[in-house]
Amino acid sequence: MKIVLFGYGKMGKEIEQIALQRKHEVVLKIDETNIATITASDLKKADVGIEFSTPHSVIKNIHTALDVPLPLVIGTTGWYKQLEDIKTLCKQKNGSLFYASNFSLGVNLFFKVNSYLAELMNKYHDYEISMEEIHHIHKLDKPSGTAISLANQILEKVDRKKNWSITEKKPETLFIKDVREGEVPGTHIVRYTSGIDDIEIMHKAHNRKGFALGAVLAAEFLHNKKGVYTMHDLI
Ligand SMILES: NC(=O)c1ccc[n+]([C@@H]2O[C@H](COP(=O)([O-])OP(=O)(O)OC[C@H]3O[C@@H](n4cnc5c(N)ncnc54)[C@H](O)[C@@H]3O)[C@@H](O)[C@H]2O)c1
Repeated sequence: MKIVLFGYGKMGKEIEQIALQRKHEVVLKIDETNIATITASDLKKADVGIEFSTPHSVIKNIHTALDVPLPLVIGTTGWYKQLEDIKTLCKQKNGSLFYASNFSLGVNLFFKVNSYLAELMNKYHDYEISMEEIHHIHKLDKPSGTAISLANQILEKVDRKKNWSITEKKPETLFIKDVREGEVPGTHIVRYTSGIDDIEIMHKAHNRKGFALGAVLAAEFLHNKKGVYTMHDLI
């Protein structure tokens, strides 16, 4: 496949390596220095786009891809409040989008464990539930998209939690502690604590390769498909 990279930072560079290993061609690399010069005919040369840019630029890039039209895999997080509008637009334009708050296989398995544990813990009210996410100091959005996915899975299963917050600690609120330190690729912890014991589950990424491989697999999956897809469809 011919791939265009929207965003050529830490993730864009990892994705390029994996894409080349899997015999794809990267025909265009877009970042903040050349985005203004890119035309629709540049983008038409590609089969698929992979978007890992910034929360401020992702929505414009999605619109651009839908207009071309260019199927787009979206890894950038921090825009999900607009997800329903984007899904509607994609349907209107008969476009192709694949989005995931986390493309790693391990995290998507962790999501399933998280949901199952939350379902079990629903009736055990003595356990207080909280979360922690730790990322590198350059990350712009907080909490992480992955933490929001985990929190929503818990809210779906645990009746005593009504919403999540990174600031408020209230009985009906699932508190998410966001930590920014060093070059941490991404760590997520879900804790159930009681006076008697604690239960903790953790996912810790050692590097960015898992995210990059998942994004390239998603691009292969999206090729020749219409509609909006997630990791649920891929796994
Ligand atoms: N979904 C996942 O699995 C996953 C995994 C890791 C990171 N992320 C997310 O991906 C995004 C990028 O992460 P990163 O670590 O590569 O960031 P980064 O800061 O290293 O790179 C961002 C890149 O975007 C470019 N950019 C800025 N404005 C742009 C524009 N208008 N159009 C195109 N490119 C533009 C920058 O020049 C830079 O090359 C973040 O939102 C991060 O949270 C998602």
